[in-house]
Amino acid sequence: MPVPVRGISLGDNSSSSDSGKETVTPRADLAMSSRAKGGKRKAFLGLHAFATEGLTKLEDFVDMDDLPELLMVYDKSNITNRSAHGPQREPLIYRRAYPKALSKSTNPRRGFLFLDHENEIASGRRSTVHRAPLVATLGPRGEPRKRVAVAVKTAKDDCRSHHLLRQEAKGYAAFPREFVTPCKPVPAGAPLRTPVPAMRPRGAFPGWGAAMRPKSPEPAEMDPPIAPKFYGFYVPIGPNGESLVQCHSSCKDFANSDCHVPHWAKSILLMEDCGEPIDPATMPYKHREQCFDLVQRMHRQGFSHGHPHPRNMLVQPGPLSLPPPLRSMASPSFRLVSFGRWRALSHPLPKESQLGAKRAFEKGREIDVCVAMDELRVGHSDSSDDD
Ligand SMILES: Nc1ncnc2c1ncn2[C@@H]1O[C@H](COP(=O)(O)OP(=O)(O)O)[C@@H](O)[C@H]1O
Ligand SMILES: [Mg+2]
Ligand SMILES: [Zn+2]
Repeated sequence: MPVPVRGISLGDNSSSSDSGKETVTPRADLAMSSRAKGGKRKAFLGLHAFATEGLTKLEDFVDMDDLPELLMVYDKSNITNRSAHGPQREPLIYRRAYPKALSKSTNPRRGFLFLDHENEIASGRRSTVHRAPLVATLGPRGEPRKRVAVAVKTAKDDCRSHHLLRQEAKGYAAFPREFVTPCKPVPAGAPLRTPVPAMRPRGAFPGWGAAMRPKSPEPAEMDPPIAPKFYGFYVPIGPNGESLVQCHSSCKDFANSDCHVPHWAKSILLMEDCGEPIDPATMPYKHREQCFDLVQRMHRQGFSHGHPHPRNMLVQPGPLSLPPPLRSMASPSFRLVSFGRWRALSHPLPKESQLGAKRAFEKGREIDVCVAMDELRVGHSDSSDDD
């Protein structure tokens, strides 16, 4: 039976746009989700709203000011633990928590997300990742909404998984632009510097917008991105705009906590879909070395990954500088994912000293190198051209 979704019109070049005139409180927005602007009911949307076949993957860097602040989520299969009573007719409301907006907008941008378990990409130990259509403006206000495919990460039903996903979102919000766009190489011996987060509000860093979009990067001179682009971490919101996020404050460091919490509403992390996990056993040395280089480049920026296992390294056809139909696995593009255990020199945990953060980063870096060298079979005397 088709699931009716009212109040929006869709399509790659939908005429509907994020009008600059709407004034929306959470409550009003809830109402708007089921009524089109002006009170008229709009197109009835069938099951195809959830389909991802043929949909263009979102690969662009999106300024945080252009990301939705409110996400209307249609969750067909109760992926979020919020739609247990069958396919909902009204969307679930989410608010962006990361990247953090400087101030609350009186006119929040809205996006629409369509979750269906049939679009599951993979299920990790701590999370499940789905591909999903996202409908949003993603550019200056007034531009038409786009319908694109993104990867959606949600936590498994235990308190530690919820915690790790939130940590991961904080990481994405702190990552510098070198992590997500092609950039000039940083020399191996260069001193560590304080990285500037890529997700910064417009105007907070003059010239930054232009720097995010290098006009004609020379692929040979540019280092490839390390991580997927981040499209926001969204937390569940109740009918009165209240946060529905739950946390076990007694599970302090979450190191050994695995409390089963099947009723906790799930938060949502949106990112670029970056392909499939690598299989080092089938990869030539130079490709394994490229993966190892991603881990080392994180370190040169003052970040450790914490778990650089092959299932946390993805591959897709490249090079990314070419349009998708011209890419191939002959020049693959690699990316690291699964950043729940990231640490950084310049990001102490709450109540942690700068020295504590430094030690955690150094320990993380050591573990990263051991794990990645071992898994990728690089750096050992017997590891070079064995293929
Ligand atoms: N950005 C992404 N694009 C495509 N697939 C992804 C992406 N992120 C994760 N995945 C897939 O989901 C799996 C689990 O994701 P991961 O982030 O490793 O979760 P966990 O925190 O549970 O380890 C990965 O091994 C990969 O197959
Ligand atoms: Mg993982
Ligand atoms: Zn707990």
